[in-house]
Amino acid sequence: MKLVIGIVRPDKVNDVLEALYRAEVRGFSLSRVQGHGGELDRVETYRGMRVKMGLSDKARFEIAVSDEFVQPAIDALCEGAQTGEVGDGKIFVVPLERVVRIRSGEKDDGAVTPVGA
Ligand SMILES: Nc1ncnc2c1ncn2[C@@H]1O[C@H](COP(=O)(O)OP(=O)(O)OP(=O)(O)O)[C@@H](O)[C@H]1O
Ligand SMILES: [Mg+2]
Repeated sequence: MKLVIGIVRPDKVNDVLEALYRAEVRGFSLSRVQGHGGELDRVETYRGMRVKMGLSDKARFEIAVSDEFVQPAIDALCEGAQTGEVGDGKIFVVPLERVVRIRSGEKDDGAVTPVGA
């Protein structure tokens, strides 16, 4: 199991949602975050230039998946979020040790996919 974390442009959230739905990836969390992706704003000052590390608003998907859904989840994030311009975002894939469904006590692969989708 992996936790696929996708940080995308907020205005691409709906496209990512559609792509996740088509890929049959059903469970995820979404939050609004701020981040810095390397772009530097140049600020003019009286005696020259300064650079400022700006923060941009981003949307963060956290998608816990069994191994077979890792690549579909990555593909859906890319397909939904890519514009080709700098700042499209990034995907992190991290090992996931345990999942527990609170209602039933089911564990791991039996718990990672929501029931009743
Ligand atoms: N190394 C990182 N660690 C954690 N979060 C990151 C990292 N790089 C980028 N992010 C997050 O992703 C957001 C978008 O980053 P961004 O798309 O600019 O990445 P990038 O690697 O610089 O790609 P690009 O070349 O397209 O700009 C950032 O605002 C930040 O929230
Ligand atoms: Mg960047």
